[in-house]
Amino acid sequence: MYETWETARGAEIIAEHSKMEGATLPIMHALQETFGHVPEEAIPMIASALNLSRAEVYGVFTFYHDFRAKPAGRHVLKLCRAEACQAAGGDALAARAEAKLGISIGNTTADERVTLEPIYCLGLCATAPSAMLDGRLVGRLDEARIDALVSEAQR
Ligand code: FES
Repeated sequence: MYETWETARGAEIIAEHSKMEGATLPIMHALQETFGHVPEEAIPMIASALNLSRAEVYGVFTFYHDFRAKPAGRHVLKLCRAEACQAAGGDALAARAEAKLGISIGNTTADERVTLEPIYCLGLCATAPSAMLDGRLVGRLDEARIDALVSEAQR
């Protein structure tokens, strides 16, 4: 279980990693591991600890799609949005998952059960389109498989 975000605890984690080479990424990973997300409030804190601008830190945050700004739902369904999966029909399947869940990619359902996230290549291009549910890889997606994954995530 993740800890609830607290500024003092966040500051402690930032300080622990701030002397590392290229500390921005290790700090963000440590924050996400601890709190399940990288709260917006942490961005200026990281910037001041590392003597960087907020824009630089925010740029790193948005560049890496693994970081979340808000806590995730109980289940995380990641849909591959990279080229091989797109070419294999990933767009239509992503739209189908969005419609079934009633949210767009990057969001969590109102009941906090499912977070739908993009991912950029799962290394399963040979069996595209691919997805990952709570860390479990699934390839050869079609309409029936995406429906089954969505139902499983909603449980
Ligand atoms: S592009 Fe989707 S798994 Fe590689």
